[in-house]
Amino acid sequence: MSFKSKMQKSSENKNSKIVLALDFPFEATENRGKILSNAQRVLKAVHQYICAVKINHHLTLPLGTFDGVQQLVEQIRGQGLLAIMDAKVNDIGNTNQVIAEYYYSAGFDALIANPFVGWDEGLKPLFEVSKRLSRGVILLCYMSHKGAAEGYGQTIIDLGTGTATPQYISFAKKALEWDADGVVVGATIPDKIREIRKVLGQNVDIYSPGVGAQGGAAETAVKAGSNYLIVGREIISASNPAMAAQRLRDSVRGV
Ligand code: XMP
Repeated sequence: MSFKSKMQKSSENKNSKIVLALDFPFEATENRGKILSNAQRVLKAVHQYICAVKINHHLTLPLGTFDGVQQLVEQIRGQGLLAIMDAKVNDIGNTNQVIAEYYYSAGFDALIANPFVGWDEGLKPLFEVSKRLSRGVILLCYMSHKGAAEGYGQTIIDLGTGTATPQYISFAKKALEWDADGVVVGATIPDKIREIRKVLGQNVDIYSPGVGAQGGAAETAVKAGSNYLIVGREIISASNPAMAAQRLRDSVRGV
């Protein structure tokens, strides 16, 4: 089964479009011992309100991929959820393949990658290893932060057609051509979500980070065409993460 289908199933089972970004602030050496137990506690509290968990350098750096993070991935999968690694894979093909093999070996179901590196000797080996191991690839298409316009918002001359095209439209077309499972488009830019949805049809899912802490509104993003919302601080930093996750889930349940 493709990662896109697994996400759909998980979302239906959990009745949720929320992907938890399991991010924690920097801790000094003497406090790092509590990061794993904090992450386990948050997962235990919120797992029933979410459909997947996204892990980032916030955890792989202090915990190690095959130590604490692998334990968390096992917990995530045991809770009937999918695990996404936000590696923003962005290197030459051979390196991308090794990055993917290590993360998949730790149990991750999908990786986030950067289409700026291109296909040949870039993301092609990543897609090949992901398909072979039935894992997913989600491509950045338009990031959620303000400076994203400097890269993703530029107008380029499309190599294939020779015409002026917004960078993010070119990336949306590549997501279709490369058979990506999803693209990331910030919840902070609903107009772009709408435009990108038109290019993708229902063939590629849209994942939108930027809800809450970065200023994006959950319902607006889903109405514009997002399939899943990636949410970190709005849940993790809440005084009651379970209530925050439940509230967010409910706010977009029937949308
Ligand atoms: P917050 O706390 O802002 O966390 O809800 C968001 C999480 O998502 C990541 N993030 C992005 N990841 N493309 C991505 O692939 C984006 O445009 C983007 N914006 C935020 C961020 O690193 C954090 O883990």
